[in-house]
Amino acid sequence: MQLLDGKYVSEKVKLEIADEAAAFLAESGRKPHLVAILVGNDGGSETYVASKMKNCEKVGFQSSLVRYDTSVTEAELLQKIEEINQDAGVDGLIVQLPLPKHIDPEKVTETIDYRKDVDGFHPVNLGRMMRNLPCFIPATPYGIMMMLQAYHIDTVGKHCVVVGRSNIVGSPMSILMARNANPGNCTVTLTHSKTANLKEMILQADIVIAAIGKKNFITADMIKPGAVIIDVGMNRETSTQTKSGYKLYGDVDFENVSPIASWITPVPGGVGLMTIVGLLKNTLASAKKEIY
Ligand code: GUN
Repeated sequence: MQLLDGKYVSEKVKLEIADEAAAFLAESGRKPHLVAILVGNDGGSETYVASKMKNCEKVGFQSSLVRYDTSVTEAELLQKIEEINQDAGVDGLIVQLPLPKHIDPEKVTETIDYRKDVDGFHPVNLGRMMRNLPCFIPATPYGIMMMLQAYHIDTVGKHCVVVGRSNIVGSPMSILMARNANPGNCTVTLTHSKTANLKEMILQADIVIAAIGKKNFITADMIKPGAVIIDVGMNRETSTQTKSGYKLYGDVDFENVSPIASWITPVPGGVGLMTIVGLLKNTLASAKKEIY
């Protein structure tokens, strides 16, 4: 088993991003600028947004956080998005999900100008991705593609089984792995909670992408020896043994699966760190007008 080391790859890519951000500053007199909107104070969202902001500073981007209480109305939020859309000094805008129940995430996603949608959730970006056109690719799938590329994982003709069909990870991941591109050119099976014979499906996989949000859901008996395992799980459990007060678990039973895998991402230290890099890459590309 060899580790797909998110720490190593993300640090390397962040150095490249920092160089490009410095060149952009020298040329344009400003830094790439990401704005994040956070509604409420969900523990996970707080952590992720703080990490996004911190990493922006690290690579020489400007970052701004707009916070709202959960009582914010949908209309207020949409108005703020429209305002940021018009601000020429902002390159990327993300609204951290999940949102409170009274706010429709589809409306929020579609209100963000697709040219600033560095999360890649807007229908224009998703549609362009399907057609292999320049677009913002959702940060986690983008990060996973960078990881596969960094380790020269051969994906051509391989059977990739994606577990989970979320808008954020599973669905876009299945499209990217099937595209005529490198990485890509896989035969893809997109599985989900209603899939019959899930274990038998996963057993056929050369590449498993686990994005279901259930601790240790993927066990060793589901894995073909030599498979490549990408664990997107970020399952938080409270713990008295860590400084943060919680511990992160993946969707994969790492201890028992890793001995039979060829490559595997750890949690933490895998996909999560690459997600941030995907977001930074999109923000830089937006600033440099490389896509729109
Ligand atoms: N919630 C979980 N993942 C993400 C993400 O990639 N972007 C946003 N905006 N919210 C999320």
